[in-house]
Amino acid sequence: MKSNFPKNFFWGGATAANQIEGAYNKDGRGLSIQEFLPKGSHGEVSDKVLDSNLKLNAIDFYHRWKEDIDLFKEMGFTALRMSISWSRIFPNGDDEKPNEKGLEFYDKVFSYLKELNIEPIVTLSHYETPYNLAKKYNGFASRKTIDFFMKYVQTVFERYKDKVKYWLTFNEINAILFSPLMAAGVLENRNDINLRFQAVHNTLLASAKVVKLAKEKYKDFKIGCMSIAIPIYTLTAHPDDNIAKMKKDWQNFFFFDVQARGSYPGYIKRYFKENNIDIKMEQGDEEILKNTVDFITFSYYLSTVADNNNNNLFNGFKPLINPTLKQTEWGWNVDPQGLRIILNTLWERYQKPLMIVENGFGAKDQLIEKDGIQTVEDDYRINYMKDHLIQANEAIADGVNLIGYTSWGPIDLVSAGTAQMSKRYGFIYVDLDDQGNGTLNRYKKASFNWYKKVIASNGKSLFEDENK
Ligand code: BG6
Repeated sequence: MKSNFPKNFFWGGATAANQIEGAYNKDGRGLSIQEFLPKGSHGEVSDKVLDSNLKLNAIDFYHRWKEDIDLFKEMGFTALRMSISWSRIFPNGDDEKPNEKGLEFYDKVFSYLKELNIEPIVTLSHYETPYNLAKKYNGFASRKTIDFFMKYVQTVFERYKDKVKYWLTFNEINAILFSPLMAAGVLENRNDINLRFQAVHNTLLASAKVVKLAKEKYKDFKIGCMSIAIPIYTLTAHPDDNIAKMKKDWQNFFFFDVQARGSYPGYIKRYFKENNIDIKMEQGDEEILKNTVDFITFSYYLSTVADNNNNNLFNGFKPLINPTLKQTEWGWNVDPQGLRIILNTLWERYQKPLMIVENGFGAKDQLIEKDGIQTVEDDYRINYMKDHLIQANEAIADGVNLIGYTSWGPIDLVSAGTAQMSKRYGFIYVDLDDQGNGTLNRYKKASFNWYKKVIASNGKSLFEDENK
């Protein structure tokens, strides 16, 4: 097998402000919903900010950004996916003026990336709606939040237009279906299905408005959408199971369909009708939705199984165990071939450039001393990533237009699902435990040099052992 990764392929890693920056109340930053999720998206919503919440200080990227970016450069990154903390720019979300100090922080970071020739791929909203917007307006359940969001987007577009060209609108937008607070800032009546789909509509509208703005004013920008992509397998060859798969797949496709094709597909209209879901569409909304994205990005961690006995549509992806696969410690099916399948599916369906903007192996690492150096021997992570990249390479050979790969958490960061530090994804170990103790020192894991070789050889090193 040979490497098919094209020249100028984006190689890098992906982060989110709330999981790395810390400095949650420094330099005028306002609170975001993350400060009220001390146990992550799987835990309860708190009514106050608890000191035990690891995201308050996270891995202190706010002060160590240069050191961390230098390490990314040492690995050879040509791209870094990161997000802007909305509440660093508009502390309450509905402020009159932006917070200059917050803008200055990203000025420094983007300038440095430019200097190092690392392309920033910036997520506008990565699970970090300003808390005030959630409390006062119920996040994207209200159309008012679209206006506040657009004001924030206009501000950062104008400020960073010479430094950032690749933008993603909403991180894992389909997570609104099962995590409306985290994905859309919906705090009240989160279980009301009608309200949830109203938030879905408003968020999709906001995403299309971003595309529209870029098309009108920032013509060299490339705007992408971002969803969780989960290949679905059938339990048996029975047609009932295949119908269940088809319906479950709509959870993968619905958000992409609207953002890449520009309208609501028939299956969702039917679902709305049969479930008495009546979302408020205003005149002109359908026209706005026609502003489709330039490229498609997604996160890929696992595949799942369509279970005809658990046939509740649009209730989220429960990672049902596939007996033919191994699982991570957190019960996620490990399925490299699933990546090839989903890449082909998305390419066939949309014919737009694709980017894998999250993929990686969350595991408990052990810091050891080897030849006088502190490191982690993370062969399990290397194997996981190697197997996935080989399947991405296969997809390129199948004809898929894949333009980049940014692995999740190139440096250990706080988990979104469980707010733990011990679920580590990085090539770089950060000395911080689940109780918040540690020096915050950074150490290179074995995967650091492995990834460096992959990037330097544009994927060729993935096949070295095989070709020997
Ligand atoms: C995605 C998110 O859900 O997966 C990230 O976009 C998140 O924010 C990542 O961290 C991994 O999930 P977790 O729960 O292991 O952090």
